[in-house]
Formats: sequence, C-alpha cells, structure tokens
Amino acid sequence: MQKGLFITFEGADGCGKTTQLNLLAQYLEKQGKEILVTREPGAKGLGEKLREILLNYDGEVSDRCEFFLFLADRAQHIDTIVTPAIQSGKIVLCDRHIDSTTAYQGYGRGIDIDRINKLNMAATNNKKPDLTFVFDVDAKTAAKRVGKSKDRMESAGSAFFNRVRQGYLELAKQEPERIKVINAARSIEEVQEEVKKILLNFVK
Ligand SMILES: Nc1ncnc2c1ncn2[C@@H]1O[C@H](COP(=O)(O)OP(=O)(O)O)[C@@H](O)[C@H]1O
Ligand SMILES: [Mg+2]
Repeated sequence: MQKGLFITFEGADGCGKTTQLNLLAQYLEKQGKEILVTREPGAKGLGEKLREILLNYDGEVSDRCEFFLFLADRAQHIDTIVTPAIQSGKIVLCDRHIDSTTAYQGYGRGIDIDRINKLNMAATNNKKPDLTFVFDVDAKTAAKRVGKSKDRMESAGSAFFNRVRQGYLELAKQEPERIKVINAARSIEEVQEEVKKILLNFVK
C-alpha cells in the first residue's frame, strides 16, 4: 500500500532540476515532512557504478546498451530505494526517472517509444510517479547554465536537445494529470513558486 508520494524532476541538463528539487526539499522539511532526495541514474551502491559508466565511459556504447543500463539502474533504484521510502510514508523527490528515458533514448536517439514504455514499466514494476515536473528551457539558456564541463550526455548537440525538449512536451500532452510543464527560463524564485503551487494543488 502506498503511503507517501513519488515526485520526479525532469528536463534538459541546465534547466534547473537539481536547484528546484533542493529548494522544495528544504521547504517540505521545514513543514515537518519526511522526505527522501534521490536521483537516476545512480542513487547509491550499484547505481553509482552504473552512473559512472553511463555518464563518463568514453568508448563505444550502443544505443540499446545505454537503454538497458538505464533500465537496470531504474529497477534497482525502485526496488531498493524508492518503494521502501514511499511505503514508509516519505515524499520521494527524484532527479530524473522514466520520462528521461522516453525523452532522451526515445525522442532523442530514436528507440521505439512503445518499446520504451513497456520496458520502463517492466523496470518500475508498473509504478509511475504521482507527479512530474518538466522544467522547460531553450537550448541556449540551458547551455549557458551548464557552462563548460559537459559530460557524455550533455555533449550531444542542439538538434538532439530540441528533439528531447519536444519529447518532454509531447509526454506532458499525453499525461497532463501527472506531468506539469513549467517555464524554467524565469528566475529560480519564480520557478520555485510555481513548483510549490502545483504541489499544493495536487495534494489538496
Ligand atoms: N532559473 C534559473 N535562473 C538562472 N540560473 C539558474 C536557474 N536555475 C538553475 N540555475 C543555475 O543553472 C545551473 C544548472 O542548474 P541545475 O539545477 O544544476 O540544473 P539541472 O540539475 O537541471 O542540470 C546552476 O548553476 C544553477 O544555479
Ligand atoms: Mg542536476
């Protein structure tokens, strides 16, 4: 039985996911809520090893191999970290999850979307987040915020960026109840206000 909440933060690198997640975590903690901050890929333990491969391996990685590495990490993460926390009543704030795979590997790299949906659901044991924020920014703004140190995923170029961005917007159209798009080109404070507003509305 579910007792807590599972909230995911999505969008391009540099859109402000981690910033907004941390601010919301502080806010919820002040309210006395029990929270868990986590991320994909690679939260803890085995996940950290997988993350290192996914973000830093500089040899050839086939698109399908990359896809399955993300899914392997996800299964481990859901089973050992997210589900126990939700069952104990925590609010889980997760930096990237299923929609990253659909946006990046599906819309970005061209892996079949239906196949991704099925395998995402296999990896999560059919669990979807209760609420998902997509922080929407243009390529230029994101690149400016990311600065110079790019990892393997961030180095893929602006055509790729735009496919991923459109992918997220398409997902939000398909699941408007779960996925909320926020204009993330605004100030950190303005974006956070909207995050809180959406969350309060959701739990009401
Ligand atoms: N709304 C914003 N306006 C300006 N800078 C921002 C904003 N949100 C985040 N940043 C800055 O941009 C950089 C990337 O933000 P971050 O939260 O790490 O993005 P992500 O986790 O999505 O990659 C950080 O230096 C952060 O301080
Ligand atoms: Mg981040």
